[in-house]
Amino acid sequence: MKEHVFVETQNVKRAKAEIAKLLARPKHEMVGLGMIYGDPGLGKSRLAKQIAYRKGYIYLRLDATETARSFAQKLWKALRYQLNVDTDAVSVESGSAPAGTTNTLMGACIRMLMDAPDSVIMIDEFDNALPNRELRESIRDIVDNTFATVILIGMRGVKEKMERINVHFFDRSNFFCEFQPLSLDDVKLIVTQVCDYELPPKLIEAAHRYSEAQFRKLIKTIVLYEHKIKNKQSMSLNKRELEEINNASGSK
Ligand SMILES: Nc1ncnc2c1ncn2[C@@H]1O[C@H](COP(=O)(O)OP(=O)(O)O)[C@@H](O)[C@H]1O
Ligand SMILES: [Mg+2]
Repeated sequence: MKEHVFVETQNVKRAKAEIAKLLARPKHEMVGLGMIYGDPGLGKSRLAKQIAYRKGYIYLRLDATETARSFAQKLWKALRYQLNVDTDAVSVESGSAPAGTTNTLMGACIRMLMDAPDSVIMIDEFDNALPNRELRESIRDIVDNTFATVILIGMRGVKEKMERINVHFFDRSNFFCEFQPLSLDDVKLIVTQVCDYELPPKLIEAAHRYSEAQFRKLIKTIVLYEHKIKNKQSMSLNKRELEEINNASGSK
């Protein structure tokens, strides 16, 4: 299997187009807020990391225990690294946590962002911010008080939850991009680009069905198929094997 290949699925194309539109907005008239959401395993995080890496955007993943303070520390470090303020920083994750209250750190982040209005911040696992009012408000402050672009990435249902919690703020999001299950064409594209062997059309269809149209299960199917071919066992997968992949990978 070819690793590190990034496949331009329909979801990827749609999300990229929405982000491009948001970046081209009239910044004085429209807030820079967008949202990507959907079921697990459809490629939301991979897209966010990929474009952050390629384009020099900031990628932050919220932990389940994230607080406004830990978020401010992460953002502060990421911004200093990004803006080359902290030339000693080896990576965003390394180094000791910066001192200061949440307010001081967020104030410093907002000032850095004001000087870098083209900044884009991708915030993954945004669901983890929902129970924490102070954290939500920190994110809202960035959107309200700077020209930075903020893309929130969350699970299906996060949009409705956000609307319940704070309708006035999150309604201003300029796009909501829901990741859809992979289409059969997506699956064909993925198989062509990542699999070392050509897969028979029947197997591609079966893989699409049994993977429940999500990436992780599809990758497992491809790996098992390649393994069997390499070991000259068979040129196909049987129903039981496909079902096993489906049942075994219930996790995210
Ligand atoms: N566009 C893509 N091209 C190649 N592999 C991908 C792509 N999107 C997702 N994957 C792979 O599929 C798996 C699940 O993707 P992930 O981004 O974690 O899904 P989500 O965040 O929606 O739960 C990961 O192993 C990831 O590397
Ligand atoms: Mg994810």
